[in-house]
Amino acid sequence: MTTRQRTRITVNGRVHEAEVEPRLTLADFLRHELHLGGTHVGCEHGICGVCSVLINGKAARSCLALAVQLDGAEVTTIEGLRNRETGQLHPIQQAFVEAHGLQCGFCTPGFIVTTLELLRDNPDPSDAQIKEALGGNLCRCTGYESILASVRLAARRLREPAQG
Ligand code: FES
Ligand code: FES
Repeated sequence: MTTRQRTRITVNGRVHEAEVEPRLTLADFLRHELHLGGTHVGCEHGICGVCSVLINGKAARSCLALAVQLDGAEVTTIEGLRNRETGQLHPIQQAFVEAHGLQCGFCTPGFIVTTLELLRDNPDPSDAQIKEALGGNLCRCTGYESILASVRLAARRLREPAQG
């Protein structure tokens, strides 16, 4: 029998304390303990990127991190992007909708969270830089061109919000 351990993780600005199995992944903590199902789980081996979240501001695979290791960490998931007061989608989410950056949507939270990190650090990335940043995220549906277009649109909107 394993001993449960206490962990305290801030997720989308709210502090959550729980006693969890030491082997519980962050992905499962988010999905099953906090009921934040927007973080998807695919390969569970760090390959596909669908489980990506921001951990202390850096995009990371939540299937590879253990909840107990993240005691004291700050995590942002796809649920944290929408404007809390107005309910409006984040400009990156809106750009993915408008530029058809998704089909089934399974990969989308991972792409959007990774794009958030990219555009925070580099507001005007080249196509090569976008491809490099998103190269660890897999999509079975879109062929990637519409995802590239979505990221370009999001970058433009975030740089020049009034221009649309
Ligand atoms: S589910 Fe985490 S990288 Fe695939
Ligand atoms: S939209 Fe279906 S896997 Fe990317």
